[in-house]
Amino acid sequence: MMEFKGADVISTETMTRGDIDKIMKTAEKFLPVAQKEKTSDILAGKVLAALFYEPSTRTRLSFETAMLRLGGKVINVIGMDSSSLAKGETLHDTGKVVENFADVIAMRHPEQGSVAEVADAAGIPVINAGDGAGEHPTQALLDVFTILRERGKIEGLTVAMVGDLKYGRTVHSLAYLLSHYGVKLILVSPEQLKMPQEVKDHLKDKKISFTETEKMEDALKHAEVIYSTRVQRERFVDQAEYERFKHYYVLTRKDIEKHNGKMTILHPLPRVGEISMDVDDLPGAAYFRQVMNGVAVRMALLALVLGKA
Ligand code: NCD
Repeated sequence: MMEFKGADVISTETMTRGDIDKIMKTAEKFLPVAQKEKTSDILAGKVLAALFYEPSTRTRLSFETAMLRLGGKVINVIGMDSSSLAKGETLHDTGKVVENFADVIAMRHPEQGSVAEVADAAGIPVINAGDGAGEHPTQALLDVFTILRERGKIEGLTVAMVGDLKYGRTVHSLAYLLSHYGVKLILVSPEQLKMPQEVKDHLKDKKISFTETEKMEDALKHAEVIYSTRVQRERFVDQAEYERFKHYYVLTRKDIEKHNGKMTILHPLPRVGEISMDVDDLPGAAYFRQVMNGVAVRMALLALVLGKA
């Protein structure tokens, strides 16, 4: 198992099942604090630097909430314009500078590999909150935590990932994590937005059975969990291409009820039309519960890397 104290969390690819279990167990412990039923100050005296060079509501507020509710404090940079990166500072130097102010960094940036660069330079733990079309490990960990809470177990489930599997960083991280459980995956996307080869190679190495299809119908028929995603507009070079795909898949209540009304529906949010509002009060619509679970998971990660859990 990895030594969490002092560790960076950049990718889920190298995580072991033991690592994941440890994070899940720790998140479970923090759930009452996340749910505002208990208070804690185990991170008193610690400072989180939230460096968000790309738009975010949930992820940044979730990290900040997690830190504050464990008694820690937060400093932040929001947007590229207000930061020294805009003046041409390197990611390396940003890491060298921020380590003087904070005990831990959570960072989001539009370039794949950027967070790893800061982590290499900084002598404090760095958590990847999304690097371009790369990865989003904390989202995927909260997705796993949510599936566990919603379904009791993951082994044996058929999970469909639907939408922009090419640019969607959450599905990359989630596929790596699910490869530790005996799942079947259905990868639903337009031909142009398929799951990257390196992720599929990893699934093959781990002997995870997966199919690729363009048809949402395949997911509705066979999956117990559907993970819907937004087409990542900001990654498209050609906006006309984006327009073509943005409403490619729309989950409706009628479709779900026709196949399996108890299906678990996940989405990292923000949704921009992929799930119609009438799905929200189905029992399996778990996307707003994911948000609460995210606070518990981020509490667990912050406490673990700071050596307090
Ligand atoms: C995701 C992201 O930023 O990658 N959002 C999030 O963190 N919850 C998904 C998305 O933006 O589509």
